[in-house]
Amino acid sequence: MESSESKRHDLMKKIKDEVVAIKGSALAQERIKNKVYPVIGEGSHFAKIMFVGEAPGKNEAETGKPFCGASGRILDELLASINLPRQSVYVTNIVKDRPTNNRDPLPDEIELYGPFLDRQIDIIQPKVIATLGRFSMVYIMKKFGLDFDLGPISQLHGKKFEANTSYGKVTVVPLYHPAVALYNGGTKGALMKDFQILKEFL
Ligand code: URA
Repeated sequence: MESSESKRHDLMKKIKDEVVAIKGSALAQERIKNKVYPVIGEGSHFAKIMFVGEAPGKNEAETGKPFCGASGRILDELLASINLPRQSVYVTNIVKDRPTNNRDPLPDEIELYGPFLDRQIDIIQPKVIATLGRFSMVYIMKKFGLDFDLGPISQLHGKKFEANTSYGKVTVVPLYHPAVALYNGGTKGALMKDFQILKEFL
């Protein structure tokens, strides 16, 4: 794949246009009814590290930006703890439209939006994919054939899993979802510690 900035920008724009054009799914209908936005992703198209969350929340759907609410403030704190500027990474979600009342995404929603995430990974070709929460951990580990390593996030968080992709090796690092750190100090401590692992890829 040609990998100039403009080429990557165009491929990403195409994804955005396609997601905006989804009108029939339940989440898209909510988006249209509530006059909010899909959240495609944000950051460097040449990022070494890509963060994959679950789905947009209220703030995200209102602005079209990922992790810009309370969980985003935790993510910013975690990035700052390893001196990693947010604009140097890429942040996205599996599901691009907000699930009503922030409920867990349904399997058919992951099936609908997952291929857009797959294309984003192919465009950016990150060396590391840090998953935020259980849903993205399961999606990404299955995608890269790491099914046999799957287990509870309480056992997998902060570990590194290597996989081969069409563009070379990728390391998957499952992390807790920052939203959990909002009400669980222990999880915040674990996230802070796990983030240190990412330093070796900078
Ligand atoms: N939670 C997520 O998983 N993603 C966001 O963008 C915001 C909150």
